Amino acid sequence: MILLFEHPDCLHRLVQELDTALPAIDEPITHSKVMDLPYLNAVLYESLRLRTPISTALPRITPPEGAVLCNYFVPGGVNIALYAISTSTSNYDRPKVFDPDRWLVSPELVSEMKKAHMAFSMGPRVCIGKNLAWLKMRMTLASLLRTFTFELVPGQNLQPTLRSVLRPMDSKLLVTASKRAV
Ligand code: HEM
Repeated sequence: MILLFEHPDCLHRLVQELDTALPAIDEPITHSKVMDLPYLNAVLYESLRLRTPISTALPRITPPEGAVLCNYFVPGGVNIALYAISTSTSNYDRPKVFDPDRWLVSPELVSEMKKAHMAFSMGPRVCIGKNLAWLKMRMTLASLLRTFTFELVPGQNLQPTLRSVLRPMDSKLLVTASKRAV
């Protein structure tokens, strides 16, 4: 929501997509109605990339003698933060820019970028709730934006800061919400 407030053009585009997919405002929202909406998914991928909730390094440290991972030698004692992977220029073009459209390019490029999308980690200890989280994120964002118009309460410090998880400096997001008529 913070990134969408900071990029009103993206917010507008997402609301338009949701209004088209869910023409009746009181229509119950099911996952099947929103799961394949391209812009909704692009916004979520991009938000998870740029505001990776668990941004710090996971408790994985290479042993003192180092380790070979995917044919690369990694020296001993190395621990890599997920945020560093999500915002590295080796993985993403203009990595600090919020640009949902980067997820709407060719399937080959998107598939490469997904290999560096680490919000849920990867491998044998990948988040077990990943699919449930995707379902809840899609349905929550879709129902909020389909039902309400939001305005940001001014004077808040919403810069991301790291306190075990990534969160806004003021720790909360204050908005006013008005119910939409149609
Ligand atoms: C946006 C939401 C979520 C994010 C960003 C997230 C992220 C993560 C990450 C990065 C890990 C790896 C931790 C590690 O390896 O040390 C993890 C593990 C885990 N997550 Fe999530 N998670 C989310 C939602 C959920 C939900 C909804 C559930 C359960 C319903 C869940 C349950 C778990 C469990 C049980 C593990 C441990 C898996 C294991 O070690 O085998 N997560 N999550």
